[in-house]
Amino acid sequence: MTTMSPSITSALAATYKRAPMEFVRGEGVELIDADGKRYLDFVAGIAVNALGYGDAGLAAAMQGAIESGMVHVSNLYRTAPGEALAEALVAKSFADRVFFCNSGGEANEGAFKFARRWARGQGGTAKHEIFSLRGAFHGRLFGTVAATDRPAYRLPFRPLAGGISILERDLTEIRAAIQSETTAAVIVEPVQGEGGVRVLDAGFLRELRALTTERNILLIFDEIQCGYGRTGSFFAYEQSGVIPDILTVAKPMAGGLPMGAILMRAEVADALQPGEHGTTFGGGPSLASVALHVLERLSDPTLLASVTENGAWFGAQLRALAERHPKVRSVRGVGYMWGVDVTDPAKEVIGRALDLGLLLVSAGEHTLRILPPLVTMRDDLARGLALIERALG
Ligand SMILES: Cc1ncc(COP(=O)(O)O)c(C=O)c1O
Repeated sequence: MTTMSPSITSALAATYKRAPMEFVRGEGVELIDADGKRYLDFVAGIAVNALGYGDAGLAAAMQGAIESGMVHVSNLYRTAPGEALAEALVAKSFADRVFFCNSGGEANEGAFKFARRWARGQGGTAKHEIFSLRGAFHGRLFGTVAATDRPAYRLPFRPLAGGISILERDLTEIRAAIQSETTAAVIVEPVQGEGGVRVLDAGFLRELRALTTERNILLIFDEIQCGYGRTGSFFAYEQSGVIPDILTVAKPMAGGLPMGAILMRAEVADALQPGEHGTTFGGGPSLASVALHVLERLSDPTLLASVTENGAWFGAQLRALAERHPKVRSVRGVGYMWGVDVTDPAKEVIGRALDLGLLLVSAGEHTLRILPPLVTMRDDLARGLALIERALG
């Protein structure tokens, strides 16, 4: 096993329990550690590295991005790549306006601000509440952690930001809690990620949309993990046909460089006056030109069809595994986003997988989360399945 130079770890804040090996290279859908051991990557940087590693098109886009010499300019001035990216995202979605930022958490924090500002114009200060759902993960910043349903992330930081609460995924409870006079927005992941990989029922989403529309409440979709092709459609909402008012994306959008975005209807965006929200780095020219390349690649119908078809095949294989393996309780997912409930603690299975050369991540104490790069082909999916079965023990 690799021993890392102690200086690398000792200076880092201990917010992550890092695996011991040190990665030095990436190739295709594999990472390679300092000892030359290869790992098939079913984590993809937690749903970031959709194009895998060493992608020539991405490398060229990154190279091209810095050729102008303008890595950063600031949002005080106009630059073409950010404007083109916003236009491309608008063309691909329900949205009229885009705000760029630097991460998923920031996108959701910004979405909360846009929602609150819009709601104030509709119903004054009373109309400010934001609701999320049981099992949600929306980030760990101050506003978003209040909307994230994980006690370990929330409790040490109380009191949390006010006016943000979690509801059961139950329409009766939701109907009683959300009111036109007091509620600004409801935020939902169409496929919950960290909270256990749960595909929300299209009927549930449709009812939620009807209810929020009827009560003049904004519906925010957090597609930070499930968007950008991961479910087989470019946006996950396309599969249910339910259109939100605001949508947040991040993770894969700039090929591993930090970028997020808030997509919204004009009425929501226009509620904010200049200066009421901002970012130094968001949507800078180098990031935006890389993101334009990624957008083109991940919205390619051939890639999306491959995620849909291979994802359905992979899901069927996982379900067959669940039937024959006593340690698998259930399987949920869509496209290249799967959760496998196991009887052993997930971290034990993940540790055994690591020894076998497969990277997996958890989504709760007994759930394995599988997020392969979207370019993973069926032979590698099959190889990963075999390794998962061995790792189950
Ligand atoms: C659905 C969802 N929302 C928000 C976030 C937060 O994103 P970030 O870690 O970039 O702040 C994540 C990250 O895992 C996520 O999966």
